Amino acid sequence: MPCYQQRGELPAKRHTAFRRPDGGLYAEHLMGTLGFDGPASLLYHIHRPTQILSSRLLDHNQIVEAADESVRMRHFRTAELKEVSSATLDRTPLLFNRDVVVSIVRPQKTDEFFFRNGQADQIHYISQGSGVLESEFGLLHYREGDYVVVPRGILHRFCLEATPHTMLIFETPSYIRFPSRYLTREGQLMEHAPFCERDVRAPEELKCNDQRGEFRVVVKQRDHLTETTLDHHPCDVVGWDGCYYPWALSIHDFEPITGSLHQPPPVHQTLQADQFVLCSFTPRMLDYHPDAVPAPYNHSNVMSDEVIYYANDQFISRSGAGFGSLTLHPAGLPHGPQPGKAEASIGGKRTEELAVMIDTFHPLKVAESAEALEDPTYGQSWIDP
Ligand SMILES: [Fe+2]
Repeated sequence: MPCYQQRGELPAKRHTAFRRPDGGLYAEHLMGTLGFDGPASLLYHIHRPTQILSSRLLDHNQIVEAADESVRMRHFRTAELKEVSSATLDRTPLLFNRDVVVSIVRPQKTDEFFFRNGQADQIHYISQGSGVLESEFGLLHYREGDYVVVPRGILHRFCLEATPHTMLIFETPSYIRFPSRYLTREGQLMEHAPFCERDVRAPEELKCNDQRGEFRVVVKQRDHLTETTLDHHPCDVVGWDGCYYPWALSIHDFEPITGSLHQPPPVHQTLQADQFVLCSFTPRMLDYHPDAVPAPYNHSNVMSDEVIYYANDQFISRSGAGFGSLTLHPAGLPHGPQPGKAEASIGGKRTEELAVMIDTFHPLKVAESAEALEDPTYGQSWIDP
């Protein structure tokens, strides 16, 4: 996973007395995942992060499944979603199972509160917009095409700059990491990986806020949202070090792997969770064997549901899907190129497609809130005209 970083002031030895200018102790704070076995960081706060004035349940935050549970090809036009206020509270869930929730949001303004997801790691694909992720670890600038990964437990807020702003969000109770086949035994990304550590961006600037007052933090846990109020600004860290922090990787820094014949989806893999993989389809040369059919062959997802988000409108094997489309091809049904797409792909030299895919190992349910975005004709789009 992301490698060791340090920012700000630190004591020479961990777990030793580290004092503020007024003589009091900085509050040392270990934050990590997988108990004490996963990546972790040590942070030094001016105030104790435990100084919580009050807590109240804000929302039960339950996702309701759509009434039609039939297994079929689905297409949701997410570009039709209206803009909303909050990047945190106004997300529209689209698909879900116990391993992952896929939602989308088009926020218009920066939240006045902070957010901590205590039950899930989050990948935010920034489909439109740019801004700064503010967290206890400092400021991380993000832009269109970034995957902004916020491991669970990290308090944060998206400070919006360019609008419109669209984020596709994957939340998972497992933890997000690089595929193990890209890593050396010591954890470094290998030469054949489609990106390297230089492409992974950690928070650049540590901004320490020594402010007293009431600061709201919305915490997600047990699928509920709770509002807690602290008696100080939560981003009051003077220094941190470790391997646990929010980070960003641009889809445009994913260097595609191509071949003379069709390369299967694992060459596009970018990230890994326990029960799904995330792949990036980026502009690339097409297959260069003289008789190659660059469009993918029909295939049966024997064990996985396939979800594709179209980040532009250039996808080689699909018609009818455009920017913002999200398709679900469920396990149990074969899928493949639509009529004419295989033939049309022959002789092609390049594709400009940009898409994000997840393959889940367990079936997904469709959320009721996705139904209003559905294209009801999609399931028949493989029929010859
Ligand atoms: Fe597929």
